[in-house]
Amino acid sequence: MAPLSTPSEAVTTGKIIHTTGYRNLSPDELVDLAIESHIARVVKRSVVGGDESFFIADLGQILRQHRRWTQHMPGIRPYYAVKCNCDPTFLNVLAELGTGFDCASIEEMRAVLSLGVDPARILFANPCKAPAAVAFAREVGVFRTTFDNIDELDTIKAHMPEAQLLLRIYANDEGAFICLGDKFGAQLDTTEELLSRAWELGLNVIGVSFHVGTGATNPASFCKAIKDARLAFSQAERLGFHLKILDIGGGFQDDCFEAMAPIIRDAIRSEFPAGITTIAEPGRLFARSVYTLVCRVISRRRQLGSAARSGVPDMLYQNDGIYGNFMNVIMEKETMVPYLVKSKKARGFLHKPKQGDALQVTNHRYSIWGPTCDSTDCVVHEVTLDSEVKIGDWLKYKNMGAYTSTTATQFNGFSNTYDTFYVNSEMLPGY
Ligand SMILES: Cc1ncc(COP(=O)(O)O)c(C=O)c1O
Repeated sequence: MAPLSTPSEAVTTGKIIHTTGYRNLSPDELVDLAIESHIARVVKRSVVGGDESFFIADLGQILRQHRRWTQHMPGIRPYYAVKCNCDPTFLNVLAELGTGFDCASIEEMRAVLSLGVDPARILFANPCKAPAAVAFAREVGVFRTTFDNIDELDTIKAHMPEAQLLLRIYANDEGAFICLGDKFGAQLDTTEELLSRAWELGLNVIGVSFHVGTGATNPASFCKAIKDARLAFSQAERLGFHLKILDIGGGFQDDCFEAMAPIIRDAIRSEFPAGITTIAEPGRLFARSVYTLVCRVISRRRQLGSAARSGVPDMLYQNDGIYGNFMNVIMEKETMVPYLVKSKKARGFLHKPKQGDALQVTNHRYSIWGPTCDSTDCVVHEVTLDSEVKIGDWLKYKNMGAYTSTTATQFNGFSNTYDTFYVNSEMLPGY
């Protein structure tokens, strides 16, 4: 697939921070420049305000992650899992790169179709669907979907009898952040019965899928699932089905992708020597590193009295928390790492830096909290920063593209829509 050459080609929606004239910047520097530029605008615009967190997305990072996928999973087509991050600009870049899309709902299908994507590139990968959602899929021409129980087969027979079905089998990586096997996947001692029922109903089963869990770390869980899929293939073939698709789901992570990929590829090769079409449903791997989130400190509690004497860290309250973009602190036990945005412009109007301010490096310990009135809304239990942080300062969090904006709520009346600004580091020489 040809690389996207200019931001205007890559992007049909959203806001681009143009960076011409800033050549030879690393992707991180480019993101920092965009953060500074947006903050400067916010600070200039208003004396109070600018109290919404915002994202900077590096479109170049999507290209690099896609390249990484094709290099380490050659021939395995990614169907990006839209639930992970449904930013239309992000989806559009993936559409241009030629990926497929794993959609879980009517709205996700609408979002992808509105980009002009052929419905044949969509897999409705939710094994327990509302009848209305199945009917919608049929209406718009999305025929590929998953199932893992008898009742779902009846729903599909009633609302999309020409469906192309993938049997979702049970799989589980116990070390995954979230084990999807608790909710979905047919156990191997049920697959024969399910396939027989599909055969009786005259439905068309074309493949087998699984998902070992999001944030997986153990390649053995993929190997086991691939072996199980082979058994389900054999059961289906004995009944008369001609299966052609193996869907290895999602679960891939930045930290261990390169180590796991060859083991997964070998397992596929040894279980399916005759060759079949293999697809996958990566979410986190594609989206996480693309987005940096920038939050503003809206309040601060400096400890007094016995708390100060016993060394309880001072408390920062920022404009985004676990009910917003930080749900992963709870769901995935993720440790968030804040960086203070240090430019003079970014420090804002509330405390104009005095000459020499930036040179003073002293350690400050903080806990960081979200804006709601809920005490579980704690983003960072303790962090040491090398400068004092004041109201109006900004904190940057990298790797905030996966299951962040898509899981945000409006708890306590706070907005769950966020501005995103885009840079494209792939336009810079050397990337
Ligand atoms: C069916 C399905 N496919 C794909 C994904 C994406 O998983 P990941 O982001 O771990 O790659 C999920 C995540 O929950 C899922 O439920």
